[in-house]
Amino acid sequence: MKHLLTLEQLSPGTIGEIFELAKELKARRGALADLPLKGQTWGLIFNKASTRTRVSFEVGIRELGGTSIYLSSADIQMGRGETVADTARVLSRYLHGVVIRTFAQNDVEEFASAGTIPVINGLTDDEHPCQVLADLFTLTEKFGSLKGRKVVFAGDGACNVCNSWLFGATKTGIELWVAAPKQFQPGKDWLKRAAGNIHVTEDFAAAVRDTDVVYTDVWVSMGKETESTARLKSLSSYQINNQILKAAKPGALVMHCLPAYRGKEITGDVFEAHQQTIFDQAENRLHIQKAILILLAKARQ
Ligand code: CP
Ligand code: NVA
Repeated sequence: MKHLLTLEQLSPGTIGEIFELAKELKARRGALADLPLKGQTWGLIFNKASTRTRVSFEVGIRELGGTSIYLSSADIQMGRGETVADTARVLSRYLHGVVIRTFAQNDVEEFASAGTIPVINGLTDDEHPCQVLADLFTLTEKFGSLKGRKVVFAGDGACNVCNSWLFGATKTGIELWVAAPKQFQPGKDWLKRAAGNIHVTEDFAAAVRDTDVVYTDVWVSMGKETESTARLKSLSSYQINNQILKAAKPGALVMHCLPAYRGKEITGDVFEAHQQTIFDQAENRLHIQKAILILLAKARQ
Protein backbone atom coordinates (compact mmCIF):
# COMPACT_ATOMS: atom_id res chain seq x y z
CA MET A 1 0.00 0.00 0.00
CA LYS A 2 1.66 3.24 -1.22
CA HIS A 3 -1.30 5.54 -0.53
CA LEU A 4 -4.79 5.30 0.92
CA LEU A 5 -6.89 7.25 -1.56
CA THR A 6 -10.03 5.10 -1.75
CA LEU A 7 -11.44 1.96 -0.19
CA GLU A 8 -12.00 0.65 -3.70
CA GLN A 9 -8.25 0.17 -4.16
CA LEU A 10 -7.73 -1.87 -0.97
CA SER A 11 -7.64 -5.64 -1.20
CA PRO A 12 -9.44 -7.76 1.43
CA GLY A 13 -5.98 -8.99 2.44
CA THR A 14 -4.72 -5.47 3.15
CA ILE A 15 -7.91 -4.66 5.06
CA GLY A 16 -7.26 -7.75 7.20
CA GLU A 17 -3.67 -6.64 7.77
CA ILE A 18 -4.84 -3.16 8.87
CA PHE A 19 -7.34 -4.71 11.29
CA GLU A 20 -4.75 -7.08 12.81
CA LEU A 21 -2.31 -4.24 13.39
CA ALA A 22 -5.02 -1.90 14.72
CA LYS A 23 -6.09 -4.58 17.20
CA GLU A 24 -2.53 -4.91 18.46
CA LEU A 25 -2.03 -1.13 18.64
CA LYS A 26 -5.29 -0.73 20.56
CA ALA A 27 -4.30 -3.42 23.06
CA ARG A 28 -0.81 -1.96 23.53
CA ARG A 29 -1.62 1.76 23.46
CA GLY A 30 1.07 3.67 25.36
CA ALA A 31 3.38 0.65 25.49
CA LEU A 32 4.97 0.54 22.02
CA ALA A 33 8.54 -0.76 22.10
CA ASP A 34 9.55 0.95 18.85
CA LEU A 35 8.34 4.21 17.30
CA PRO A 36 7.70 3.55 13.60
CA LEU A 37 7.36 7.27 12.68
CA LYS A 38 10.40 8.42 14.67
CA GLY A 39 11.98 11.46 13.02
CA GLN A 40 9.06 11.87 10.59
CA THR A 41 6.90 14.94 9.97
CA TRP A 42 3.45 14.50 8.42
CA GLY A 43 1.30 17.30 6.97
CA LEU A 44 -2.43 17.57 7.50
CA ILE A 45 -3.90 19.61 4.64
CA PHE A 46 -7.50 20.38 5.54
CA ASN A 47 -9.93 22.33 3.34
CA LYS A 48 -12.96 21.36 5.44
CA ALA A 49 -13.74 21.35 9.16
CA SER A 50 -12.85 18.33 11.29
CA THR A 51 -12.82 17.19 14.90
CA ARG A 52 -12.19 13.43 14.79
CA THR A 53 -10.00 13.11 11.71
CA ARG A 54 -7.69 15.96 12.62
CA VAL A 55 -7.29 15.09 16.28
CA SER A 56 -7.00 11.33 15.83
CA PHE A 57 -4.32 11.77 13.14
CA GLU A 58 -2.39 14.34 15.18
CA VAL A 59 -2.49 12.13 18.28
CA GLY A 60 -1.75 8.96 16.27
CA ILE A 61 1.30 10.46 14.55
CA ARG A 62 2.62 11.68 17.89
CA GLU A 63 2.06 8.28 19.55
CA LEU A 64 4.08 6.66 16.76
CA GLY A 65 7.01 9.00 17.38
CA GLY A 66 6.39 11.53 14.60
CA THR A 67 5.23 15.11 14.49
CA SER A 68 2.52 16.77 12.39
CA ILE A 69 1.85 20.17 10.88
CA TYR A 70 -1.74 21.29 10.39
CA LEU A 71 -2.09 23.19 7.11
CA SER A 72 -5.46 24.81 6.55
CA SER A 73 -6.19 25.92 3.00
CA ALA A 74 -6.66 29.46 4.32
CA ASP A 75 -3.00 29.53 5.37
CA ILE A 76 -1.16 27.92 2.47
CA GLN A 77 -0.67 29.19 -1.08
CA MET A 78 -2.86 26.42 -2.49
CA GLY A 79 -5.79 28.42 -1.09
CA ARG A 80 -4.66 31.29 -3.35
CA GLY A 81 -4.32 29.22 -6.49
CA GLU A 82 -0.96 27.43 -6.29
CA THR A 83 -1.52 24.14 -8.09
CA VAL A 84 -2.01 20.86 -6.26
CA ALA A 85 0.87 19.35 -8.26
CA ASP A 86 3.34 22.10 -7.32
CA THR A 87 2.24 21.90 -3.68
CA ALA A 88 2.79 18.13 -3.79
CA ARG A 89 6.27 18.51 -5.27
CA VAL A 90 7.29 21.11 -2.68
CA LEU A 91 5.84 19.32 0.33
CA SER A 92 7.44 16.04 -0.80
CA ARG A 93 10.80 17.72 -0.20
CA TYR A 94 9.93 18.43 3.46
CA LEU A 95 7.38 15.93 4.71
CA HIS A 96 7.19 12.14 5.07
CA GLY A 97 3.47 11.92 4.25
CA VAL A 98 0.23 13.88 4.12
CA VAL A 99 -3.38 13.48 5.14
CA ILE A 100 -5.69 15.51 2.90
CA ARG A 101 -9.31 16.50 3.57
CA THR A 102 -10.83 18.32 0.63
CA PHE A 103 -13.66 18.49 -1.91
CA ALA A 104 -12.48 16.92 -5.18
CA GLN A 105 -11.21 13.33 -5.13
CA ASN A 106 -9.09 14.29 -8.10
CA ASP A 107 -7.03 16.61 -5.88
CA VAL A 108 -5.86 13.77 -3.62
CA GLU A 109 -5.15 11.60 -6.68
CA GLU A 110 -3.19 14.43 -8.30
CA PHE A 111 -1.21 15.09 -5.12
CA ALA A 112 -0.32 11.40 -4.94
CA SER A 113 0.84 11.22 -8.55
CA ALA A 114 2.79 14.50 -8.56
CA GLY A 115 4.42 13.99 -5.16
CA THR A 116 6.70 11.28 -3.82
CA ILE A 117 5.24 10.77 -0.34
CA PRO A 118 2.30 8.68 0.92
CA VAL A 119 -1.12 10.37 0.75
CA ILE A 120 -4.07 9.47 2.97
CA ASN A 121 -7.60 10.54 2.01
CA GLY A 122 -9.04 12.15 5.16
CA LEU A 123 -12.40 12.67 3.38
CA THR A 124 -13.33 13.96 -0.04
CA ASP A 125 -16.74 14.48 -1.65
CA ASP A 126 -16.34 10.93 -3.04
CA GLU A 127 -14.98 8.83 -0.19
CA HIS A 128 -14.13 8.60 3.50
CA PRO A 129 -12.00 5.43 3.65
CA CYS A 130 -10.53 5.93 7.15
CA GLN A 131 -14.03 6.26 8.59
CA VAL A 132 -15.37 3.10 7.00
CA LEU A 133 -12.27 1.07 7.91
CA ALA A 134 -12.82 2.15 11.53
CA ASP A 135 -16.52 1.23 11.26
CA LEU A 136 -15.76 -2.21 9.86
CA PHE A 137 -13.09 -2.78 12.50
CA THR A 138 -15.65 -1.83 15.18
CA LEU A 139 -18.00 -4.43 13.75
CA THR A 140 -15.30 -7.12 13.86
CA GLU A 141 -14.89 -6.33 17.56
CA LYS A 142 -18.64 -6.82 18.09
CA PHE A 143 -19.34 -9.75 15.75
CA GLY A 144 -16.05 -11.47 14.89
CA SER A 145 -16.55 -12.41 11.25
CA LEU A 146 -18.47 -9.92 9.10
CA LYS A 147 -19.43 -12.42 6.39
CA GLY A 148 -23.20 -12.50 5.85
CA ARG A 149 -23.96 -9.73 8.35
CA LYS A 150 -26.62 -7.29 7.20
CA VAL A 151 -26.04 -3.53 7.40
CA VAL A 152 -28.52 -0.83 6.41
CA PHE A 153 -27.15 2.59 5.45
CA ALA A 154 -30.01 5.06 5.82
CA GLY A 155 -30.37 8.62 4.54
CA ASP A 156 -27.93 10.25 2.13
CA GLY A 157 -26.90 7.17 0.18
CA ALA A 158 -25.03 9.28 -2.36
CA CYS A 159 -22.52 10.69 0.13
CA ASN A 160 -18.82 9.97 0.66
CA VAL A 161 -19.37 7.68 3.68
CA CYS A 162 -21.93 5.55 1.85
CA ASN A 163 -19.67 5.32 -1.21
CA SER A 164 -16.87 3.95 0.96
CA TRP A 165 -19.37 1.58 2.56
CA LEU A 166 -20.22 0.12 -0.87
CA PHE A 167 -16.62 -1.01 -1.27
CA GLY A 168 -16.08 -1.85 2.41
CA ALA A 169 -19.15 -4.11 2.52
CA THR A 170 -18.21 -5.89 -0.69
CA LYS A 171 -14.66 -6.58 0.46
CA THR A 172 -15.74 -7.97 3.84
CA GLY A 173 -18.74 -10.02 2.67
CA ILE A 174 -21.40 -7.81 4.26
CA GLU A 175 -24.90 -7.64 2.79
CA LEU A 176 -25.48 -3.90 2.43
CA TRP A 177 -28.85 -2.22 2.04
CA VAL A 178 -29.03 1.46 1.17
CA ALA A 179 -32.37 3.00 2.18
CA ALA A 180 -32.70 6.42 0.57
CA PRO A 181 -35.01 8.50 -1.60
CA LYS A 182 -34.30 8.20 -5.34
CA GLN A 183 -32.21 11.39 -5.59
CA PHE A 184 -29.99 10.29 -2.67
CA GLN A 185 -29.29 6.76 -3.85
CA PRO A 186 -25.77 5.65 -4.82
CA GLY A 187 -24.85 6.34 -8.44
CA LYS A 188 -25.12 3.39 -10.85
CA ASP A 189 -21.39 3.62 -11.63
CA TRP A 190 -20.55 3.26 -7.93
CA LEU A 191 -22.78 0.21 -7.58
CA LYS A 192 -21.27 -1.34 -10.67
CA ARG A 193 -17.75 -0.72 -9.44
CA ALA A 194 -18.50 -2.13 -5.98
CA ALA A 195 -20.26 -5.18 -7.46
CA GLY A 196 -21.20 -6.58 -4.08
CA ASN A 197 -24.28 -7.96 -2.32
CA ILE A 198 -25.85 -4.48 -2.30
CA HIS A 199 -29.55 -3.63 -2.39
CA VAL A 200 -30.92 -0.13 -2.89
CA THR A 201 -34.46 0.80 -1.91
CA GLU A 202 -36.71 3.70 -0.94
CA ASP A 203 -38.50 1.41 1.53
CA PHE A 204 -36.68 2.05 4.82
CA ALA A 205 -38.88 -0.29 6.89
CA ALA A 206 -38.39 -3.18 4.46
CA ALA A 207 -34.63 -2.62 4.40
CA VAL A 208 -34.36 -2.68 8.19
CA ARG A 209 -36.14 -6.03 8.55
CA ASP A 210 -33.86 -8.45 10.46
CA THR A 211 -30.80 -6.27 10.03
CA ASP A 212 -27.77 -6.53 12.33
CA VAL A 213 -26.78 -2.87 11.98
CA VAL A 214 -28.42 0.43 11.06
CA TYR A 215 -25.95 3.14 10.05
CA THR A 216 -26.46 6.82 9.32
CA ASP A 217 -24.53 9.98 8.51
CA VAL A 218 -25.48 13.66 8.49
CA TRP A 219 -28.09 14.67 5.94
CA VAL A 220 -26.21 17.82 4.95
CA SER A 221 -22.59 16.99 4.18
CA MET A 222 -19.88 19.63 4.15
CA GLY A 223 -20.15 21.61 0.95
CA LYS A 224 -23.91 20.91 0.57
CA GLU A 225 -25.11 23.65 2.90
CA THR A 226 -27.04 25.53 0.19
CA GLU A 227 -29.20 22.39 -0.28
CA SER A 228 -29.93 22.18 3.42
CA THR A 229 -33.70 22.90 3.39
CA ALA A 230 -34.44 20.57 0.47
CA ARG A 231 -32.30 17.79 1.96
CA LEU A 232 -33.91 17.93 5.39
CA LYS A 233 -37.33 17.72 3.73
CA SER A 234 -36.54 14.84 1.36
CA LEU A 235 -34.69 12.80 3.98
CA SER A 236 -37.08 13.33 6.91
CA SER A 237 -38.63 9.85 6.64
CA TYR A 238 -35.19 8.17 6.91
CA GLN A 239 -34.60 9.11 10.54
CA ILE A 240 -33.34 6.35 12.85
CA ASN A 241 -35.85 6.22 15.69
CA ASN A 242 -37.32 3.61 18.03
CA GLN A 243 -40.22 2.91 15.67
CA ILE A 244 -38.02 1.94 12.70
CA LEU A 245 -35.71 -0.12 14.92
CA LYS A 246 -38.61 -2.44 15.87
CA ALA A 247 -38.14 -4.21 12.53
CA ALA A 248 -34.40 -4.79 13.08
CA LYS A 249 -32.92 -7.89 14.77
CA PRO A 250 -33.26 -7.74 18.56
CA GLY A 251 -30.05 -6.13 19.84
CA ALA A 252 -29.22 -4.62 16.44
CA LEU A 253 -26.42 -2.05 16.53
CA VAL A 254 -26.86 1.58 15.54
CA MET A 255 -23.83 3.36 14.09
CA HIS A 256 -23.08 6.97 13.23
CA CYS A 257 -19.85 8.37 11.83
CA LEU A 258 -20.44 11.70 13.64
CA PRO A 259 -21.01 14.63 13.90
CA ALA A 260 -24.65 13.83 14.80
CA TYR A 261 -27.67 16.08 14.50
CA ARG A 262 -30.25 14.86 16.97
CA GLY A 263 -33.84 15.16 15.82
CA LYS A 264 -32.70 14.94 12.19
CA GLU A 265 -30.96 11.74 11.02
CA ILE A 266 -31.24 10.16 14.50
CA THR A 267 -33.35 10.79 17.59
CA GLY A 268 -31.64 11.79 20.83
CA ASP A 269 -32.89 8.70 22.67
CA VAL A 270 -31.66 6.26 20.02
CA PHE A 271 -28.31 8.06 19.93
CA GLU A 272 -27.87 7.77 23.70
CA ALA A 273 -29.02 4.13 23.77
CA HIS A 274 -26.28 3.33 21.21
CA GLN A 275 -23.60 5.76 22.32
CA GLN A 276 -21.21 2.93 23.26
CA THR A 277 -21.00 1.68 19.67
CA ILE A 278 -20.93 5.19 18.22
CA PHE A 279 -18.03 6.34 20.39
CA ASP A 280 -16.23 3.02 19.84
CA GLN A 281 -16.32 3.91 16.14
CA ALA A 282 -14.86 7.34 16.93
CA GLU A 283 -12.12 5.84 19.14
CA ASN A 284 -11.24 3.24 16.53
CA ARG A 285 -10.38 6.00 14.06
CA LEU A 286 -7.20 6.45 16.11
CA HIS A 287 -6.17 2.78 16.12
CA ILE A 288 -7.03 2.16 12.47
CA GLN A 289 -5.20 5.27 11.30
CA LYS A 290 -2.10 4.38 13.32
CA ALA A 291 -2.10 1.01 11.54
CA ILE A 292 -2.46 2.76 8.16
CA LEU A 293 0.40 5.15 8.99
CA ILE A 294 2.69 2.27 9.95
CA LEU A 295 1.92 0.27 6.81
CA LEU A 296 2.45 3.30 4.56
CA ALA A 297 5.72 4.23 6.29
CA LYS A 298 6.92 0.60 5.97
CA ALA A 299 6.05 0.50 2.27
CA ARG A 300 8.34 3.50 1.68
CA GLN A 301 11.42 1.95 3.30
N1 CP B 1 -16.35 11.38 11.23
C1 CP B 1 -15.46 12.35 10.93
O1 CP B 1 -14.68 12.26 9.99
O2 CP B 1 -15.48 13.40 11.79
P1 CP B 1 -14.73 14.80 11.60
O3 CP B 1 -15.44 15.53 10.46
O4 CP B 1 -14.90 15.49 12.91
O5 CP B 1 -13.31 14.55 11.25
N1 NVA C 1 -20.80 12.98 4.87
C1 NVA C 1 -20.24 13.83 5.88
C2 NVA C 1 -19.26 13.10 6.72
C3 NVA C 1 -18.70 13.87 7.87
C4 NVA C 1 -17.65 13.11 8.63
C5 NVA C 1 -19.61 15.07 5.25
O1 NVA C 1 -18.98 14.93 4.20
O2 NVA C 1 -19.78 16.16 5.80
